[in-house]
Amino acid sequence: MTEPILEMRGIEKRFGGVHALRGVDFDLREGEVHALLGENGAGKSTLMNVLAGVIPPERGEIRVKGKVVQFASPREAQASGIATIYQELDLVPGLDITANLFLGHELMRPFAGLDNRRMEREARARMAAAGVDIDVRRKIGDLSIGQRQLVAIAKALSYATRVLIMDEPTAALSAAEAERLFGVVRAMCARGVGIVYISHRLEEVPRVADRVTVMRDGRIVGDEPASAPQARLVNLLVGRPFDQLFPPRAAALGPELLRLERAGFTPAAERAGWQAPRDVSLTVHGGEIVGLAGVMGAGRTELLSALYGAGPPGRWHGSVSVAGRPARLQSIGAARRAGLAFVTDDRRGSGVILRHSVGRNVVMSILRRISPAGFMSPAAEDEATRRSIRNFDIRPPRGDVLVGNLSGGNQQKVVFAKELLREPKLLLLDEPTRGVDVGAKGEIYQRLRALTGQGLGVLVASSELPELVGLCDRIVAMRQGCSVAEFPGGIDEKVLLESATGIAGEAA
Ligand SMILES: Nc1ncnc2c1ncn2[C@@H]1O[C@H](COP(=O)(O)OP(=O)(O)OP(=O)(O)O)[C@@H](O)[C@H]1O
Ligand SMILES: [Mg+2]
Repeated sequence: MTEPILEMRGIEKRFGGVHALRGVDFDLREGEVHALLGENGAGKSTLMNVLAGVIPPERGEIRVKGKVVQFASPREAQASGIATIYQELDLVPGLDITANLFLGHELMRPFAGLDNRRMEREARARMAAAGVDIDVRRKIGDLSIGQRQLVAIAKALSYATRVLIMDEPTAALSAAEAERLFGVVRAMCARGVGIVYISHRLEEVPRVADRVTVMRDGRIVGDEPASAPQARLVNLLVGRPFDQLFPPRAAALGPELLRLERAGFTPAAERAGWQAPRDVSLTVHGGEIVGLAGVMGAGRTELLSALYGAGPPGRWHGSVSVAGRPARLQSIGAARRAGLAFVTDDRRGSGVILRHSVGRNVVMSILRRISPAGFMSPAAEDEATRRSIRNFDIRPPRGDVLVGNLSGGNQQKVVFAKELLREPKLLLLDEPTRGVDVGAKGEIYQRLRALTGQGLGVLVASSELPELVGLCDRIVAMRQGCSVAEFPGGIDEKVLLESATGIAGEAA
């Protein structure tokens, strides 16, 4: 094996009372993919933020190619060839793809301002190198989460000459896109770039990584070859044997909650990149979890948001009924009155308010229901907050922490807790466990089953095929805005993937 290009020794970092890194050692060799695993809040992003010059460590040493370095800013780290794809993407929504790719590194013409034409040409080349096909003149704000992820990847690739940090790069990608990304990763390695790969999708580890390091509570707890059995990794991750990820399926079905018959939604004005539901037929009963499978652009997010009245202005056609009656789901208010709740795939955009505390976020969602005057006793607020924290194992277990300071996965748990406090009848979920660790995933699945046991119905879109197959009672495959097939839970992932992509024989 080659010399390490990167060595981190004894890295310490505290945030107030939280000891996020407790003397962490980490290294990376030329051309290798080093997976970094750990539960939500283990310290993975913090360690990488130290490496990327975002957070100064309190103690410890970083060496690049044997030389001690101290990065005072992300720009200094970048200048040393260290590029990062952040977990919460650092793109500017109001600017187009080209402007984002060149932000802070704009190309100029001598004495004549920005060289827009050249930037656009290069932007196209960079996107192509990352295997992405999206018009570079489109605004970030108009892209789906998955598309934004791909832009962030293209952006980082161009600066990564030595080290590329990928913090959950596939969280918002479908199986086919993730596959393409692995191709890009291998090409980067072949050029000698070392890659730190953070993911909660354990099945990716043997496919993309050379070795694995596991963190827990700010410490390294294991160092394994990437071929280590999954059970061993899960054990290291959660610190206890872990047998049952998916709870048993529904025993009995309740009444029909949602029925779509050849339903579609036509936006009043054409929206680029918004795949309108065109022809969807499906049902969801109380007590069951129905999955939506599909590639990016299949229209799953659009279907869920239109059902929730959160799509663009427009009209439904075909038949949509809720609890046996024709429904007009034209606004969020109407959808909520009909008993619907929605956990979106974009926790930054619509899920939670980052600058508010966990307690404030939780309480805001139920204030109206509990008290028409918009007032709750502090004791009732405390109780609701404590219950949410307990039910979803939000860490650290404190209501006064700002959501923006929680780890990515714990932010997701807050979104979940908040929507469920509304006590909906039908829960719409878009990528519900994006960025959630395996232990917490199991807890969320148990929680969902407990609620469906009490009559809740769930319609869930997920890009994680094992999740759809393991969790759902039935799975509807979608393609280009249409439902194309329906399968029972437990179906072979490969069959599902073939149906969702329309391509036979692609590796699952
Ligand atoms: N700016 C901050 N202020 C206060 N606490 C913070 C801050 N950033 C991180 N923390 C805390 O440090 C700990 C480690 O967080 P980190 O984001 O590194 O976790 P992670 O391993 O990346 O988790 P995830 O898988 O959920 O993304 C957590 O307890 C988190 O709440
Ligand atoms: Mg993180």
